Amino acid sequence: MTADDFQRLVRTRRVARQFLPTPVNRALLDALLMDAQHSPSNCNTQPWVVHVVSGATRDVLSKALRAADARGDLTPDFEFDMQSYTGVHAQRAQSSGRARYEAINVARDDRPGRLAAMQHNLSFFDAPHVALLFMPRIHDYVRSASDVGMYAQTFLLSLHARGLAGIPQTLLGLYAQTIREVLGIEEEMKLMFGISFGYADPQSPANFVAVGRAPLCESVTQHV
Ligand SMILES: Cc1cc2nc3c(=O)[nH]c(=O)nc-3n(C[C@H](O)[C@H](O)[C@H](O)COP(=O)(O)O)c2cc1C
Repeated sequence: MTADDFQRLVRTRRVARQFLPTPVNRALLDALLMDAQHSPSNCNTQPWVVHVVSGATRDVLSKALRAADARGDLTPDFEFDMQSYTGVHAQRAQSSGRARYEAINVARDDRPGRLAAMQHNLSFFDAPHVALLFMPRIHDYVRSASDVGMYAQTFLLSLHARGLAGIPQTLLGLYAQTIREVLGIEEEMKLMFGISFGYADPQSPANFVAVGRAPLCESVTQHV
């Protein structure tokens, strides 16, 4: 692979928010997971504990998530609050949200439309698979959380390189206890987020959202 190939791969990856029902075959799934397994981690601890959910269990899980959502049963292992984004972070979040809703033709004041788009997370955007990224408690979780982030990015790039797509979903992490109960996972395993994945629907406008990135000077300071 040349540097140009790599640049193209990284810069053309996008999340997908509408998948085809076509499942990923077992050999391909194993290759994706083995790519992600090669991610770097603090002291090579590889603290990620990954549950891949497909088939009938995927449908059971989606139903349980929708029921938990209807009950307002939120059980996140790690806090998430949009209000904690301020300044430039709030601006970037708003602008990516705007691009996303414009693409699927949901107006700013269309509350049912926005709610339905949000709830689509709970059907894994119709993806046939979801990988749920757990980790055990290690000190204050911060170091292992960064390792899990490394894993997620390798997995996303591997999907893209192989003609598939994925979407990390913090929203799934808001239902951590429901997910543990359905899958029989012990309480000690904490859920960071899920990644729904499969083949992106090439016709869906939900998959044509380019949100761009800040200029380097907003993120990087060079010291010479
Ligand atoms: C850790 C993480 C969690 C995310 N959670 C969600 C989510 O719950 N729902 C969603 O629709 N998108 C989610 N996203 C997708 C981001 O909105 C998306 O990555 C961002 O807008 C940049 O778009 P791009 O990945 O297509 O470049 C998440 C992304 C990351 C990295």
